[in-house]
Amino acid sequence: MADLIVTGLTRAYGPVRAVDDVSFTVRDGEFLTLLGPSGCGKSTTLFSIAGLDRPTAGRIAIGDTVFYDSAQQIHLPPERRNCGLVFQSYALWPHMTVRANVEFPLRLRKVPAAQAKAKVEWALSLVEMQDYAHRWPHELSGGQQQRVALARTLVYEPLLLLLDEPLSNLDAKLRLRARGWLRDLQSRLKLTTVYVTHDQEEALALSDRIAVMNGGEIVQLGTPQDIYLQPRSAFVADFVGHSNILSGEAVRNGQAGILLVLSDRQKLHIDTEPRAAASNRLQVAIRPEHIALFTAADRPTGENLLRGRIVQRDFLGAHIEYIVEVGDTTLRVMGTKQISGSEVLLELPVQRCMPFWQDE
Ligand SMILES: Nc1ncnc2c1ncn2[C@@H]1O[C@H](COP(=O)(O)OP(=O)(O)OP(=O)(O)O)[C@@H](O)[C@H]1O
Ligand SMILES: [Mg+2]
Repeated sequence: MADLIVTGLTRAYGPVRAVDDVSFTVRDGEFLTLLGPSGCGKSTTLFSIAGLDRPTAGRIAIGDTVFYDSAQQIHLPPERRNCGLVFQSYALWPHMTVRANVEFPLRLRKVPAAQAKAKVEWALSLVEMQDYAHRWPHELSGGQQQRVALARTLVYEPLLLLLDEPLSNLDAKLRLRARGWLRDLQSRLKLTTVYVTHDQEEALALSDRIAVMNGGEIVQLGTPQDIYLQPRSAFVADFVGHSNILSGEAVRNGQAGILLVLSDRQKLHIDTEPRAAASNRLQVAIRPEHIALFTAADRPTGENLLRGRIVQRDFLGAHIEYIVEVGDTTLRVMGTKQISGSEVLLELPVQRCMPFWQDE
């Protein structure tokens, strides 16, 4: 099989560009996730690949097969693209048993009965639902229904697997398990997969690579490690891993790095080069788990210490989430330490502070 290549994909609704000049390649057998907030264009991109939506411009091809090309006015109908689609609402046909649901796409494709029977068995065993073949959809749990929906797609061995928030109807625990078997199944079948989610944790856990989208564009594409450890913008740092963002004026700090001056005049050392450009507005992202909290009695000696005030504390089981005000900025801090009182010192280690110049 071949790579899926999307080039300059654009979908406009009047003056609004739901997808704006998006290009990416999904390698043969790769699991690529489109991750981004609601309305950023994930489903529109996926539906354009499936042929359920007609883009305004661009090109979509897999090997020699051109799905869509605006210049050549090619728009292959969905049934000729051989894509397997699974949506959030998995909608099994309620009047058909599990077996009949999975068999249905083969009947549409006029696959001979004996061959169809074997394929249905194969698809049901892939998702470990062979013992439920005789049941009706309403006799299954949400997770089981989702597995049947996936079997119904896998049964005709699609060229591409396209999944739009397929786990979001499941409760937290089931979701976690479904994630495991989905990833396992995908890697066993080596099926080229485009997965859509707004859940960053799911994206990090499942993907070979992630394309982070915002406002119809891909703002960063890389491995989960790249995206998490080296976000290219404050948006990515915040969307993937919930960073705190501090903004302020950057001033030179002698030989080494710069100082970020916050609105309440507190200062942070930042390890980045000063620059000559007109604006010296800087944003610094730091993750909640990288900030340490102390009371004055702890006498912390770290370099980047800010004064703050705890305004909320939530016990979350394994850790405590503190909401801390520093000047006019509100920070989330994850810790395991119980801190009483409200006046605190926050340590923001220099190597954990990710700087982004604001006009870039
Ligand atoms: N038929 C339409 N007419 C006008 N605008 C549309 C239409 N369909 C989608 N849009 C707009 O296009 C943008 C992208 O929509 P899309 O469904 O791709 O978002 P999404 O990233 O999948 O979001 P979500 O996470 O909420 O599913 C949205 O701003 C949406 O309002
Ligand atoms: Mg969507």
